[in-house]
Amino acid sequence: MSERPTRKAPAIHMSDHVLPGQTNNHGTMFGGEVLAMMDKAAAIAALRFCRQFVVTASTERIDFRTPIHRGDLIDMTARVIYTGTTSMIVRIDAWAERPVSGERHWCTTGYYSMVSVSEDGRPCAIPRLLVETQSEQADWEHGAKIKASIQARLRETDPPPQDPLAL
Ligand SMILES: CC(C)(COP(=O)(O)OP(=O)(O)OC[C@H]1O[C@@H](n2cnc3c(N)ncnc32)[C@H](O)[C@@H]1OP(=O)(O)O)[C@@H](O)C(=O)NCCC(=O)NCCS
Repeated sequence: MSERPTRKAPAIHMSDHVLPGQTNNHGTMFGGEVLAMMDKAAAIAALRFCRQFVVTASTERIDFRTPIHRGDLIDMTARVIYTGTTSMIVRIDAWAERPVSGERHWCTTGYYSMVSVSEDGRPCAIPRLLVETQSEQADWEHGAKIKASIQARLRETDPPPQDPLAL
């Protein structure tokens, strides 16, 4: 098997303008819309890192700290912080910004686990992450803990539920 290359992970940035169709009756953004945007940011960060197809395997718990209002700008930064053999942990930070004052507040941080897959959907090896700075090292160690908790969770997963529509 050929040696896996080592490379840096670029940070990617995504912005959007929160429109009425993305908000609830209180005028704040639907959680599912935020999660979908985070998923897209994670996929782009993973793709730009490995330059291979990726799928979302799981997300860690996400706490929405502050609401994002209709008319706000939403801003996300995502970067691969940890690599396994075929999987990557991507950290996504989300901020809301008032369009006129420019005032910003942090909304949430999430960790998505992305797996590189071949065209037939089978996991395939990715490059190793190059860690250079102290903050990248701290992120790597946090990613390693997340990876260990995913592995523990997968070992403990209950059997699939019974399908109520099965004949
Ligand atoms: C993710 C997926 C490709 C893993 O396939 P698999 O045959 O179970 O893979 P393996 O058990 O060989 O594990 C491959 C890697 O995925 C990781 N992995 C598997 N299931 C995972 C999960 N639920 N969460 C996080 N990581 C997971 C493993 O830890 C392993 O990582 P490593 O190679 O870095 O150590 C497969 O479960 C899948 O296709 N899931 C559906 C993905 C999807 O449709 N997402 C939503 C739309 S994008």
